[in-house]
Amino acid sequence: MGKPVYLDYNATTPIDPEVISEMLPYFQIGFGNPSSSYSIGRENLEAVNRARKQVAALINARPEEITFTSGGTESNNHAILGAAIAHQGKGKHLITSEIEHPAVTNVCRHLAAQGWEITWLPVDKAGRVNPKDLESAIRPDTVLVSIMHANNEVGTIQPIKEISEITRHKNVLLHTDAAQSIGKLETDVEALGVDLLSIAGHKLYAPKGIGALYVKDGVGIENLMFGAGQEEGIRPGTENVAYIVALGKACEISAGNIDKNYQHMYDMREKLLEGLLLKLKNIRVNTDLTNSLPNTLSIAFDKVDAHKLTTLISNEVFISTGSACHSGITEISPVLKAMNIELLIATGTVRISTGKYTSVEDIEFATEVISKAVQKLL
Ligand SMILES: Cc1ncc(COP(=O)(O)O)c(C=O)c1O
Repeated sequence: MGKPVYLDYNATTPIDPEVISEMLPYFQIGFGNPSSSYSIGRENLEAVNRARKQVAALINARPEEITFTSGGTESNNHAILGAAIAHQGKGKHLITSEIEHPAVTNVCRHLAAQGWEITWLPVDKAGRVNPKDLESAIRPDTVLVSIMHANNEVGTIQPIKEISEITRHKNVLLHTDAAQSIGKLETDVEALGVDLLSIAGHKLYAPKGIGALYVKDGVGIENLMFGAGQEEGIRPGTENVAYIVALGKACEISAGNIDKNYQHMYDMREKLLEGLLLKLKNIRVNTDLTNSLPNTLSIAFDKVDAHKLTTLISNEVFISTGSACHSGITEISPVLKAMNIELLIATGTVRISTGKYTSVEDIEFATEVISKAVQKLL
């Protein structure tokens, strides 16, 4: 991508130029409302439905099972609240994990404030949920299990297939937040056995502010919005046609390149880690890289404050930290906390995430910049 080097693809991705070309006409000549019966309306409805097929194809779903949303946050909210409201006759118990994105944890906290009981499953030191813990947590009044497919901060992949065998057997709905796995891992709703799945466009080279929710045929969830009936009434409001087209195109591109992109992101991450390990002695890898997103590296530099590091290199290499600093007090992320990573290691933790545009030159430059900065801070 050139300098400065962007290595924070888990935060967001640049928009693929092919995606931009595909969506631009819908801001211009193709501005019609998909609900209008004349040509520029009808054509836009067709464009929306074409995009629906492209999204469905990427995850092996049926087009009717895809609803467009404003992104990962809305998809998670709709999946969890919609399932909770629709099935509360069965009970008011929900199971999730301690390492979910705030777009899941805060929905669960909201439900807890409404009288729901939430079981927060722990993770092991690599950030993985144990399916046996899930099995013993399921009760007759459990309505939903929500476990992410892959973690945004540390990249750990969750055993969703094993989890779905349990939820199916126990007749409990399963939602997975796939915001980080879509485009990085093959994500097949049938193979995973999930009932609900969230997609965020801006993690897969589409714009921010567009996403999708997969709801398996026959799984009823309650609407959160009411309006003029667009998206089969599930998510009314005039469609954001340009962004929907963009998400469809991004999914189509991803589907055709999944193995190639996986290998490339993996090679770039490995090259970076090898380069850093050659230059620095104080590196700790926080996860099990054999069970991780191919692009994500969560590493700690011993005796280095990650905030000072990212600030020092902030004009050259873009990466993020594993802790937040508020009024001089360092708070480690709930994900690192759940993994039992001690404060000093968490304080030195950075997240580096590669993408399809990361080049060998980017990695060589980043290796040089990061290692020099770490040495300076020691
Ligand atoms: C795992 C995960 N879920 C949900 C989201 C939220 O998605 P969005 O930013 O599209 O609302 C993100 C984005 O950071 C994420 O990484």
